[in-house]
Amino acid sequence: MTEKPAGTWSLKGKKALITGGTRGIGAAVAEEFLSLGADVFIVARSEPDVNSRVDEWTAKGWQARGMAGDVGEARVRETVITRVGKYWGKLDILVNNAGTNVRKKTPAYTDEEYDLILKTNLTSAFDMSRRAYPLLKSAGGGSIVNVASVAGLTGLGTGSPYAMSKAAMIQLTRALAAEWGADEIRVNAVAPWYIRTPLAEGVLRRPEYLASVLARTPMGRIGEPEEVAAAVAFLCMSAASYITGVCLPVDGGFLSSGFTPP
Ligand SMILES: NC(=O)c1ccc[n+]([C@@H]2O[C@H](COP(=O)([O-])OP(=O)(O)OC[C@H]3O[C@@H](n4cnc5c(N)ncnc54)[C@H](OP(=O)(O)O)[C@@H]3O)[C@@H](O)[C@H]2O)c1
Repeated sequence: MTEKPAGTWSLKGKKALITGGTRGIGAAVAEEFLSLGADVFIVARSEPDVNSRVDEWTAKGWQARGMAGDVGEARVRETVITRVGKYWGKLDILVNNAGTNVRKKTPAYTDEEYDLILKTNLTSAFDMSRRAYPLLKSAGGGSIVNVASVAGLTGLGTGSPYAMSKAAMIQLTRALAAEWGADEIRVNAVAPWYIRTPLAEGVLRRPEYLASVLARTPMGRIGEPEEVAAAVAFLCMSAASYITGVCLPVDGGFLSSGFTPP
């Protein structure tokens, strides 16, 4: 029996930039990458959170760096890419994970709330991707994963700006996959349903809300951040070398279940 080439199911030696890596899905992605042999750079707004994560991972012998900043701001995105370029001279992986939401009915949104959601979730992913492009290209190819949502694929009552931002991230994924395929830069997305993170905690704490989420989830449970992280890691491995432009649901079957007869 012939063995697979070493490294196919590994991220050993890969350099990975993850936005929003201090908690929830982003922190789980960073830990998954580190445990698979990658070096990571995280960005989040809270400096103490960035420092404590980097210290925690460095103490385990992992190669972690980070920077405090708001990825909704162009000047922060520019600084992040400059620093990554200075440290590593290339980039193998970009995970556009940082995201936010304000839940309201559409007529109630202020212009500021609309702008906040769009610039945090969508503009950051678009601009980080294009700024990272030269570094990914100089690595000889690489992988981008956009953390979208099932809210970008079907109506969920999350509020229309969040849904729009996630749908646009999924189309950005396809557009970049088509544009950058010849550069060996693969671009994919994941679409989680409810995952146990601080962002989802607010609504899941309400027992009646949680019960209705579970009733609509074929697997009958909330997802864990590590379950999203595993999917992201796979998409970044050379094991996924011919996969680009896809949006992989991580949803316990949610999108497959339109109606369950009583
Ligand atoms: N949890 C779910 O059920 C679920 C489902 C579908 C999709 N998602 C998506 O998954 C992604 C991660 O969600 P999560 O649940 O892990 O959220 P979370 O627990 O709130 O964590 C968000 C992370 O992003 C950082 N962040 C937020 N805004 C930022 C900004 N403007 N600039 C830089 N960093 C920022 C946060 O740190 P700071 O606050 O310090 O900046 C934190 O590290 C989001 O894109 C979300 O839409 C989540």
